[in-house]
Amino acid sequence: MRSSDSSALFVVGVGRVGQAVLDELQRLPEAPRVIGIARSSGAWLEPEGLQTGSWRERITAEPDGALDDLVASAIDHPAAARIVVDCTAGHALAAHYCELLEAGVAVVSANKLPFAGPLADYHRCFEAAATAPLRIEATVGAGLPVLCTLGDLIRTGDRVLRIEGVLSGTLAHLCDRLDAGDTLSAAVRNALQLGMTEPDPRDDLAGQDVVRKLVILARTAGFDLEPEAVQAEPFLDDPKLFELDESSWWDRLAAHDAAIARRWNEARKHGNRSAYLATFADGHASVRLEEVPPEHPVASLSGTDNMVAFTTRRYPTHPLVIRGPGAGPEVTAAGVLADILHARGVLRGR
Ligand SMILES: NC(=O)c1ccc[n+]([C@@H]2O[C@H](COP(=O)([O-])OP(=O)(O)OC[C@H]3O[C@@H](n4cnc5c(N)ncnc54)[C@H](OP(=O)(O)O)[C@@H]3O)[C@@H](O)[C@H]2O)c1
Repeated sequence: MRSSDSSALFVVGVGRVGQAVLDELQRLPEAPRVIGIARSSGAWLEPEGLQTGSWRERITAEPDGALDDLVASAIDHPAAARIVVDCTAGHALAAHYCELLEAGVAVVSANKLPFAGPLADYHRCFEAAATAPLRIEATVGAGLPVLCTLGDLIRTGDRVLRIEGVLSGTLAHLCDRLDAGDTLSAAVRNALQLGMTEPDPRDDLAGQDVVRKLVILARTAGFDLEPEAVQAEPFLDDPKLFELDESSWWDRLAAHDAAIARRWNEARKHGNRSAYLATFADGHASVRLEEVPPEHPVASLSGTDNMVAFTTRRYPTHPLVIRGPGAGPEVTAAGVLADILHARGVLRGR
């Protein structure tokens, strides 16, 4: 028998984002009870709920089981609002999304991978979400209200004509540092030291993260886009760089400093800025480093700011623009928390 006002939360992944979610939860007046936590080494389960603030201590003990046990516990738990949160960057939990949703358990995900792969997987997940909410706001723009705004436009009958934006806070920061005169290798080192990059910064330079976000945006707007259809140029086009080991790839990166500086000078001479731009229009998707004129909406961005502009049937000449910090554990956690509270409200029937 399910208790109508109770809720049970299960957080999978306690890296940068998962930790921020668990810490921020403690500040909420009526936070859902955390029943389970998992990381790669196992799961910790407490059917009555973990003591607030004790989760770090709890996961120093031997795990109570594996990820499968957490999934089973979420499905069997008597709370009316059961929510599993994916703060991992892999497929292990995603393999259980449909089973969870079909059992009435909401899924909140910051993880882009399950939604930016084959289209059939994306549709399968959202078809299963007929039974329980599936919320993925933090996958694009971190805490910025990008997907909910786009979803509202579509639900209210608008039609998207063009999506354009800067979707990587890390690459925006690199462009900013290059504008300020840093070399590419110094800018990458600086971003790594500030904790802004993926553990291996080459993952950012490859641009695949931006491809995934553009795919999720286009799909949310109702277009059947496959990732292979995106014309993607890496931020730095050097396949060899991605094959080298840790000790030698930094040297190879520094060898690109002069060419990148020339590219930046060229843009400056034309009175333009350089931006790693994602564009979807007329069914075509592209991701590449481009020169943008000063009047372009992204030309005024600074720091790690993201920006997405939606040109639609209702906003044909002046696009609807969302901009602001689009990376970092705290702002990403804010997007995840908003999704958790939304899912809880739906499952409680209010
Ligand atoms: N960081 C950002 O600004 C940001 C913004 C938007 C979206 N995101 C997305 O949010 C997700 C998390 O990012 P992050 O920066 O927090 O990553 P992270 O620091 O690398 O943390 C990943 C977590 O996932 C856990 N994990 C890995 N495989 C697992 C498995 N099979 N079962 C259970 N747990 C597993 C890891 O366990 P261990 O602790 O044992 O290693 C770790 O706790 C990613 O998908 C990322 O793309 C991040």
